[in-house]
Amino acid sequence: MTIEGNGRVPSKGASGSRGENRVWTVLDLLRWTTKHFSEQGLETPRLDAELLLAHALGLERLTLYLQFDKPVESGERSAFRELIRRRVSERVPISLLLGQREFWSRSFRVTEDVLTPRPDTETLVEAALEVIRQASPRSCRVLDLGTGSGAIGISLAAECPEAQVTATDICPKALQIAQRNADELQVSENIRFLQGDLFGPIGAETFDLIVSNPPYLARSESGGLAPELSHEPEQALFGGPDGYAVLRPFAAGVGERMEPGGWVGVEIDPGQADVVAGWFAEAGLCEIDILNDLAGRPRVVSARKKTAT
Ligand SMILES: C[S@@+](CC[C@H](N)C(=O)[O-])C[C@H]1O[C@@H](n2cnc3c(N)ncnc32)[C@H](O)[C@@H]1O
Repeated sequence: MTIEGNGRVPSKGASGSRGENRVWTVLDLLRWTTKHFSEQGLETPRLDAELLLAHALGLERLTLYLQFDKPVESGERSAFRELIRRRVSERVPISLLLGQREFWSRSFRVTEDVLTPRPDTETLVEAALEVIRQASPRSCRVLDLGTGSGAIGISLAAECPEAQVTATDICPKALQIAQRNADELQVSENIRFLQGDLFGPIGAETFDLIVSNPPYLARSESGGLAPELSHEPEQALFGGPDGYAVLRPFAAGVGERMEPGGWVGVEIDPGQADVVAGWFAEAGLCEIDILNDLAGRPRVVSARKKTAT
């Protein structure tokens, strides 16, 4: 790290006055940090640099572009320097350094107690919204199992005020974050949070629509994962040794919790799609479909419960 405590960066090999007197502008810091992040092997060095500098300066990221020549004060540089250090040395994800992540056009608060919502998961939200919008009446009962930050359930509650959403999680701390997100995003009226394992918290209740992004990574493959994942809760990432510890009982039991004609969508790792589709079929569900994410990989398995005859 060469951004020093006083914010003055000596030019290479010159610890003398020229480097130390240097004034650092927004653009200087962005260039220096982008290069540093790139050398450290970060995947999106310029974007990371912009997000962290904007956060340190209390600005929107795009506002930086209007202030390239602005000198950055010592206190702001110190805050920025600490963010850079944590990003590089500890590989803390940007979302945790900022304390928030955009999902389905809303800002969700995130901490180390919840999975940072991923763009891939928007595939499930999009599919569920399509189902709700085609339903008549649109007032349906929705279950989001394993809600984490609340990303899926809150997005559905916000987009469909007539839906009644139940969001569950096994982790009480995650539910606290989810409740806070619901309050801040003003959807508390049509969402409730319940704590417990799998379908335990809902008792005998049934739903018109069930969504879940359960933990599905295989513990046996954890060695090759990005270091950033070590900052996310294990319970949110790993589905046991083979990745199916939650998916298996979910697929087996979901039919009993669905109304006739109800819809279920579950996020999976691309390699799990056929297995989960097979389990849905064994459980007597119909209209089984595999939906791709924006990168064209299988990401969601969906199905319906047969209507009563
Ligand atoms: C992959 S994260 C998904 C979080 C959020 N729904 C999202 O898409 O960003 C999985 C969530 O399921 C929760 N979870 C893990 N095992 C569970 C279980 N047996 N029953 C209920 N929730 C569980 C975890 O605590 C975690 O919040």
